[in-house]
Amino acid sequence: MEHILDKDVERVLFSEEQLRQRVAEIAAEIDRDYAGKEPLLVSVLRGSFVFMADLVRQIHLPCTVDFMAVSSYGSGTSSSGQVKIVKDLSEQIEGKDVIVIEDILDSGNTLSYLLQILQARKPASVRLCTLLDKPSRRTKPVQLHYAGFSIPDYFVVGYGLDYDERYRNLPYIGVLKPCVYEGK
Ligand code: XMP
Ligand code: MG
Repeated sequence: MEHILDKDVERVLFSEEQLRQRVAEIAAEIDRDYAGKEPLLVSVLRGSFVFMADLVRQIHLPCTVDFMAVSSYGSGTSSSGQVKIVKDLSEQIEGKDVIVIEDILDSGNTLSYLLQILQARKPASVRLCTLLDKPSRRTKPVQLHYAGFSIPDYFVVGYGLDYDERYRNLPYIGVLKPCVYEGK
């Protein structure tokens, strides 16, 4: 660890090397599953930008990318069922094989809503790929095709994930020290 922000991290959950390895495995699965096709990878901003950038560079198939931003009206660290599209896709997805790229699947509220919106646009297929999964927090069932790591209910930061917009630039995924939330 060598960032000023390291002092706020209780422990490293996934190192750069572990992330690199797992991302390469997911890319290999996608290469195998989409052979002969040209998937469109849709990154859900902002948390998934680092995962997306690493993942596409390990995918050997032709693929395209697009970005979407949603805001979820929730309090604190949980999201509600109310989701607003802040930035929509730039391209049409009708007839395309879409893979939604997320940083973390938690309650499932955001994703179940987003998948509904995308399905209505008549893509050939939609699959979900998330780097992290917190299954114990799920309140809305979501079908998950590619998942990097399943984790307990820790609040994690780094590798794109933030607390209060900070820590996204940490190259590993770590558990935030409770004192960072306390006094807030
Ligand atoms: P839902 O509950 O809709 O929410 O599945 C998913 C979104 O919640 C955020 N989230 C986290 N962000 N560390 C974070 O930095 C976490 O441990 C965490 N858990 C949930 C995240 O924005 C995700 O897209
Ligand atoms: Mg997110």
